[in-house]
Amino acid sequence: MTVQSKILSDPVATGEARFPSDFVWGMATASYQIEGAVAEDGRTPSIWDTFSRVPGAVLGGDTGEVACDHYHRMPADVDLLAELGATSYRFSVAWPRVRPDAGPVNAAGLAFYDRLVDELLAHGIAPWLTLYHWDLPQVLEDEGGWTNRDTAFRFVECATAVHDVLGDRVPTWTTLNEPFCSSLLGYAAGHHAPGRQEGAAGLVAAHHLLLAHGLATQELRSRGADRLGLSLNLTVPDPSDPQDPEDVDAARRIDALHNRLFLDPIFRGAYPVDLLEDTAHLPWQHAPWTDVVRDGDLAAISTPIDVLGVNYYHGNEVSGHPRTDVVGVGSDQPDRVALSPFVGSEHVTFPSRGLPVTDMGWEIQPDGLHRLLRRLHDDYPHLPIYLTETGAAFADQPDEQGAVHDPDRIAFLDSYLRAVHRAVEEGVDVRGFFQWSFMDNFEWAFGYAKRFGLVHVDYATQRRTPKSSARWYADLSRTGVLPS
Ligand code: NOJ
Repeated sequence: MTVQSKILSDPVATGEARFPSDFVWGMATASYQIEGAVAEDGRTPSIWDTFSRVPGAVLGGDTGEVACDHYHRMPADVDLLAELGATSYRFSVAWPRVRPDAGPVNAAGLAFYDRLVDELLAHGIAPWLTLYHWDLPQVLEDEGGWTNRDTAFRFVECATAVHDVLGDRVPTWTTLNEPFCSSLLGYAAGHHAPGRQEGAAGLVAAHHLLLAHGLATQELRSRGADRLGLSLNLTVPDPSDPQDPEDVDAARRIDALHNRLFLDPIFRGAYPVDLLEDTAHLPWQHAPWTDVVRDGDLAAISTPIDVLGVNYYHGNEVSGHPRTDVVGVGSDQPDRVALSPFVGSEHVTFPSRGLPVTDMGWEIQPDGLHRLLRRLHDDYPHLPIYLTETGAAFADQPDEQGAVHDPDRIAFLDSYLRAVHRAVEEGVDVRGFFQWSFMDNFEWAFGYAKRFGLVHVDYATQRRTPKSSARWYADLSRTGVLPS
């Protein structure tokens, strides 16, 4: 059975689904994944430039040196975005282009984003800006990176410099993308840059990232920004056996680390008590890691925001027992051994449910998205929610005529959008959807091996070919209706 036919055999995935007329149909990318031009116009190295040169760190030894060469092809890329019906474009600003340290602002680097924003507006596409999508300047990592509290203040300076130039034209500002990855995968699991495996450093980094978010939110608000938020990658952990205390506890630990570590300080001004109990024994610089949390930090972190960005790809079944029938954990998942100090047990496993999977090995699980949206609605303040990422990697290749047909991606998007639609019908305030990704790009530790794009990129020629999913998505953004 193909992925497509398995998804379509789901009875929920039928019937016409009409979205509100002002629903935002967006596409997303991130600076390091598409720009290339890593040494141009004053850009300095980022932690991903450094990490991707470490043998074995990235599949195939790939780096973002050229990527999709978007830095040089931006106007044509924006033409394509418009042709494909995007009403909003989510992109990130590369910090090492703008203000790599406490020194002067690099006007030449900022000028690229100035041109990008003008180009988007000229095409009627609303810019949606992310300030940090993981490319920390290497000079700051050399000073400790996100384990150094000063990095939060450097971030605010960078955010301010960007806002000074683009604040008059960019309506939506999100501070961080997926701090789970840039903290725990980068500093504890070591799967992502900077590749550190230092246990508590992951939690310290998470705290400083959250602090950076809160302080930047305050600063930009004082400068007139009125649509501020961030994007969290949230998951849906289901215990294998809801009657088994070990399984239930394992699911709770994953929920604490993946979801509540970020949601609770932002929306409730406090770290989850159970997470603190699980991790209290973890030392950072000869003291409990929680000593890095200073008076006033949580007040800053819980500064009210206006929009919540949710990135969701899949949930997981979680077991507290050793299991061998596990699913691929992929780049957005905690490695259970590297993170075992936080998870509290090496036996936390992610058993396969037999669902269809994408090329990342991630389960295709639209009902998890519906449940996640309901939970956010029930447990946290009623904020406008935007799905700032979902999408699927499949091994798409052009056929003999050069066309790229990707029915599996269409079936995936159809099923996830139906989950969103159902939540909207039930009163959850979801206002838009950004497909990851506009085009194939550098998929972090997987290099160019995984293709998430609506647009196929031939990396040898930089030729862009819209896949059949791109045409499908263009129709959807025009009509706002998923047909029966
Ligand atoms: C999350 C990240 O924000 C993005 O950079 C990544 O490529 C996708 N998910 C797919 O893994």
